Amino acid sequence: MKNEYLAFPFEILSIVKETEIDWTYTVKYDGPLVGGQFMQLSIPGVGEAPISISDFRDGSLDMTIRKVGRLTDAIFNLEAGDSLFMRGPYGNGFELSKYVDKHVVIIAGGTGLAPVKNVIEKLTSGEIKTNSTRALIGFKSPDDVLFEDALKRWSQDHEVTVTVDKQPDKPWNGKVGLVTEHIPTLEGYDIEKTEAIVVGPPMMMKFTTLALLKAGYLPQNITVSFERNMSCGIGKCGHCKIDETYVCLEGPVFNYTTAVKLLD
Ligand SMILES: Cc1cc2nc3c(=O)[nH]c(=O)nc-3n(C[C@H](O)[C@H](O)[C@H](O)COP(=O)(O)OP(=O)(O)OC[C@H]3O[C@@H](n4cnc5c(N)ncnc54)[C@H](O)[C@@H]3O)c2cc1C
Ligand code: FES
Repeated sequence: MKNEYLAFPFEILSIVKETEIDWTYTVKYDGPLVGGQFMQLSIPGVGEAPISISDFRDGSLDMTIRKVGRLTDAIFNLEAGDSLFMRGPYGNGFELSKYVDKHVVIIAGGTGLAPVKNVIEKLTSGEIKTNSTRALIGFKSPDDVLFEDALKRWSQDHEVTVTVDKQPDKPWNGKVGLVTEHIPTLEGYDIEKTEAIVVGPPMMMKFTTLALLKAGYLPQNITVSFERNMSCGIGKCGHCKIDETYVCLEGPVFNYTTAVKLLD
């Protein structure tokens, strides 16, 4: 019988230090992927955790990992040429075809930018042809900014607002204030027909979706992605279950009309 928990080793090709505690690991990988899906990443004898796929291309995928505990501490000791164990991909990911010919706003908070990085790449590069693609991205401070090169690239032809929570004590070219404070600056498009994607910490997602609704966005046009506690990732353990919904199987990407019923 096939062991669904079996993980396999994949070679780390390179590591980019985005911040002190957020590093992007590019891993050798071939196979179909959808932006917004996640892998169960592990080191034998240390632990296992779900990690979003932040980007992918032929032959490799990226995962942007924050050093917070047992497994991620151990991963930060690995180098290019070492192996990471993975099983997956899991989860539904973002359905990008719904954004064709639409105005799209992506709002991300902190590491919440990782699960939507590939989505922003596809929308800003024109691979998915939208009417307009705008991004509003919040970080705690300039030291927490992720994907600086990508942010510059996306801003060349698209409206990309990067904001930090409070006025930094070092030079800063971006905006200041929480993402919710900048939602009014997104007005001016046909809001009732604009699609919004919101990904970030639970509080950020809650207040951002409320601010969008207040600004006139329709609930059915808002998509969110949950980073809820997960263990098996395959619908067996019940860790991620809310009422009858298995977030690992039916999510982590949900339309707001469903997500609002799943909020704790
Ligand atoms: C769908 C999904 C996607 C995700 N994507 C990403 C991603 O792209 N990148 C990413 O970095 N993370 C991601 N996460 C989160 C990641 O899975 C967790 O951070 C994971 O727990 C890390 O494992 P760890 O063993 O390093 O940390 P753990 O040891 O499990 O620690 C996790 C947290 O618990 C705290 N903690 C640990 N031990 C204790 C203790 N004894 N007492 C109190 N607090 C404690 C730690 O400080 C830390 O905040 C995702 C989660 C989900 C569900
Ligand atoms: S994580 Fe085990 S059932 Fe979803």
